[in-house]
Amino acid sequence: MKKSIEFKIKPDWDEIEKVRNESAEFLQSHELSDDTIHSLSMIISELIENGIKYGNFKVVANKVAVVINIDHNTVTIEVFNPVDESAFSHLSRLDRTIQWIRGYQDPFEAYVERIKEVSKKPLQDTESGIGLVRIAYEGKALLDFFVNDNNMLNVSVVSNLEGNDRK
Ligand SMILES: Nc1ncnc2c1ncn2[C@@H]1O[C@H](COP(=O)(O)OP(=O)(O)OP(=O)(O)O)[C@@H](O)[C@H]1O
Ligand SMILES: [Mg+2]
Repeated sequence: MKKSIEFKIKPDWDEIEKVRNESAEFLQSHELSDDTIHSLSMIISELIENGIKYGNFKVVANKVAVVINIDHNTVTIEVFNPVDESAFSHLSRLDRTIQWIRGYQDPFEAYVERIKEVSKKPLQDTESGIGLVRIAYEGKALLDFFVNDNNMLNVSVVSNLEGNDRK
């Protein structure tokens, strides 16, 4: 059985559905429960959406890459997108958001805080800022990121398998 699967996609919204379907098949082949597959698919979609929204695609050949790996009781999802200096404010927001989530012992509390804040904001606000905290809470997952020397941002999520999903 394959331990990992990789995708390289154009920054198009339609591509998200394709990755979702193929990665769900991969996760099913590891006999994960439907609930777990549902949560992991949500994580994959949120990370790719961010990659498309905040990545640098001024160079036409630039792509979003996705790597999903299953090892023992851990699923790791990594999404890579190119960034340029215009993404600086987003990278610092990404950093702040991840640190802020880590500050809560239970990510559910962070999720509730965020929902309360968002409900006060005007409807047309596009950056609702729920994606990452939803990943942390619903995916029971740890988030991290780094930018390599080639200006490639890597956002990673590590989710521990529980219950019947454990190998
Ligand atoms: N791949 C990325 N590249 C650069 N910045 C990012 C990336 N992902 C997230 N960020 C930054 O982190 C912030 C928080 O991301 P998050 O996904 O939680 O919220 P959002 O994308 O603003 O809104 P939502 O996901 O609810 O539509 C973003 O607003 C953005 O500034
Ligand atoms: Mg998002």
